[in-house]
Amino acid sequence: MTPRSLFDDAAGLPAPPDAAPESLADGALLLRGFACAEADALLAAAAQVIAAAPLRHFITPGGRAMSAGMTNCGALGWVSDRSGYRYASADPLTGRPWPAMPGCFADVAARAARQAGFADFLPDACLVNRYAPGARLSLHQDRDEADLAAPIVSVSLGLPAVFLFGTPRRTDRPARLRLAHGDVAVWGGPSRLAYHGIAPLADGAHPRLGRWRINLTFRRAGGPG
Ligand code: SIN
Ligand code: FE2
Repeated sequence: MTPRSLFDDAAGLPAPPDAAPESLADGALLLRGFACAEADALLAAAAQVIAAAPLRHFITPGGRAMSAGMTNCGALGWVSDRSGYRYASADPLTGRPWPAMPGCFADVAARAARQAGFADFLPDACLVNRYAPGARLSLHQDRDEADLAAPIVSVSLGLPAVFLFGTPRRTDRPARLRLAHGDVAVWGGPSRLAYHGIAPLADGAHPRLGRWRINLTFRRAGGPG
């Protein structure tokens, strides 16, 4: 058993990577510390993605700028503007295809999905979200994807966040779960359309990311792979 002190960070004492998966609902699992070992590689790859496709604050159909900075990699990227939400194969900011999905991204997503019982997850879209203190993501469903049989895999890096995780019914009150650096949430099957969001990020200082939280959300956005 590895001493817990190796996993200390300013945010407290995250569970060691061998912690038992935590069931959130039927089809939804929280894998605490799952991506700790490859976190530095994921952050280095994310920096390359951001260098090629800069973070930006999408405008919602209602006309407001989202508080998290966003970009994408993979064949398809999630975009929003006055005309709505959709997936696009080119970055509207640069006109170029989104950067390719880094190998370490696809690998961690597939391994986490497998651990949660979803074999052969081959994501074609990764949304990169960057939160500063105060940034949030209001409760929503991910339902712009063509393939709802594939799960969603979400990797948290940097400052901890409060993840709101509900059910497919909007009126059900969501659970509040703390997501720390290296934690991975997977939801699919009966939980695929669960409402979820991020509460306003609390300020803090993370040893690797300072005052930022970065989240990688993997999805199968086009048809089955
Ligand atoms: C998302 O729902 O797209 C991202 C959630 C998160 O930042 O953890
Ligand atoms: Fe989402």
